[in-house]
Amino acid sequence: MKVLVTAASKHGSTLQIAEAVCEAMRRRGVDARLLPIEKVKSLEGFDAVVLGSAVYAGRWLKAARRMVDEHRAELTERPVWLFSSGPVGKPLEPERSPEFDKMTEATAAREHTLFPGNIDRRVLTVAERAVVSSLQARTGDFRDFNQIRQWAIGVADELRDIERSQIKSLVG
Ligand SMILES: Cc1cc2nc3c(=O)[nH]c(=O)nc-3n(C[C@H](O)[C@H](O)[C@H](O)COP(=O)(O)O)c2cc1C
Repeated sequence: MKVLVTAASKHGSTLQIAEAVCEAMRRRGVDARLLPIEKVKSLEGFDAVVLGSAVYAGRWLKAARRMVDEHRAELTERPVWLFSSGPVGKPLEPERSPEFDKMTEATAAREHTLFPGNIDRRVLTVAERAVVSSLQARTGDFRDFNQIRQWAIGVADELRDIERSQIKSLVG
């Protein structure tokens, strides 16, 4: 099974999560390919999709929302796993962005998981820094790459099961 792994990222942290997902899946024997979300023109040739986005002001980034809009039919025809990356600190708040369920439904995703994010003040725009300060949001890197890899391994194993049951139903 060939799997597309892609994510929308403003400052690169979510892209690094996608890279870790892709690598962990490959190590587990899955033919996973990482593509920049802007380069995804069609899902043809991919049997499954892992799609992620950073969350800003409660929303997925535009590139990820656009991908769901433009490829909705293709997505619903394939096994899809979603991840959102956003909350920083503990407890992880908000637990889910308002778009969490919307994206899950639109893609008929098997799972939509939430990973803690990363706020590096040095890379923020002036406006973003002002938002972070006004919300008194915590800054720092709260990503847990062990958690991310474990999740990816779970996805890879589920894909294997799907593949096995497809082969079984073909053989009869
Ligand atoms: C201005 C700003 C607004 C944010 N708004 C949210 C939010 O509403 N919900 C959330 O969970 N995380 C929010 N975050 C945290 C980001 O989603 C997190 O930093 C993420 O890891 C950034 O990913 P990126 O580096 O791929 O852009 C916000 C961060 C910034 C700088």
